Amino acid sequence: MKLIGGTASLGLATNVAKHMKKNLVKTEIKRFSDRECYVRIIDSVDEDHVIIIQSTISDAHIIELFLLMDAVRREQAKKITCVIPYYGYARQDKQFQKGEAISSAALAALISTNADAVVTIDPHKEHILDYFSIPAESISAIMPLSSYLQKKEIDLVLAPDAGAMNRAKQAASYLNCEVDYLEKKRIDSSTVQITPKNLDATNKTVAIIDDIIATGGTMARSIEELHRQGAKEIYITCTHGLFAGNAIEKLQNTRPTEIIATDTIDSEYSKVSTDQIISNKLQKK
Ligand code: R5P
Repeated sequence: MKLIGGTASLGLATNVAKHMKKNLVKTEIKRFSDRECYVRIIDSVDEDHVIIIQSTISDAHIIELFLLMDAVRREQAKKITCVIPYYGYARQDKQFQKGEAISSAALAALISTNADAVVTIDPHKEHILDYFSIPAESISAIMPLSSYLQKKEIDLVLAPDAGAMNRAKQAASYLNCEVDYLEKKRIDSSTVQITPKNLDATNKTVAIIDDIIATGGTMARSIEELHRQGAKEIYITCTHGLFAGNAIEKLQNTRPTEIIATDTIDSEYSKVSTDQIISNKLQKK
C-alpha cells in the first residue's frame, strides 16, 4: 500500500503515514500562472494499492484529486482508494427544487470512473454513499471528538437539530451524560432560527456536536439560546470546520467556551485529529 497526500490534506496524510509507519509517495503538485494544476508522481507506484488522501474543500482541490488519480492510474497502480476526509458538495444530496443538479451525485459519479474505492468521514447524509458505483464507506469522528471532550466534564450533549441526534447520542453515551436536541428551522442558506426549547441547561457544561460548521449561523443561534437558558460553559464541536466568510467572528461574538473541529479541513481550530481512525480503516483494506 502506498499513500499520497493532496494539498488539501497534506498534514493529515503525513500523520496517517506516520501511524502506518510509511513514507508518503513523493509528488510534485503546482499551479501554472493561469492557475491550472500540474501533478506528477515521482516515486514508483507500479502494481501497488495506492491511497490518495484529499479533502474536496474547493473546486481546485477536486481538479487536483482527478489529476492525482489520472497520474496514479498511468503509473499502473493496481488499485486506487480515495480517502476524502471532507467530501465537499455533499450538502446538495437531493433535488430540493425541480431543475437542480445533485452535486453530491455528480461528483460521486466522476470519482467512481477514476477510483476503485472511497472512504469519507461523517458525510452530511449517509445516503450520498449510494451515489458511488464503487465501494464507498464512511467513518465517524465522534470517538476522537468525544475523547477530546472527556476532560471538559460535559453534563449535556446537544444536537443542533433532530437530524443530528444520532451523532449526539453516540457522544453522550461515550461521555456518560445527558443528550437532547435543539429545534432548528432553516430560513435560507445563511439564516437559521433556533426555537426556544426548555432544556434544563442552567449551570450545565454543554457540548453542541454537528457534522459541519459552514456559515456558523446554526452554532451562533444555538449558543445564544443556551446563554439565554443559563448554561455555564458551551463547547461547540464539529467534524468539518469549514468556517466560511465571517463564521469565526460570528461565533466569537456569541462567546462560546471553545471552538473544536477535526483536521478534515485544516484550521487553527483543528484540535482533534482523524489520523488514527483513517489508519485503522486502511489497515483493514
Ligand atoms: C445541517 O443540517 C448541518 O448539519 C449543519 O448544521 C449546517 O450545515 C451548518 O451550517 P451553518 O454553519 O451554515 O449554519
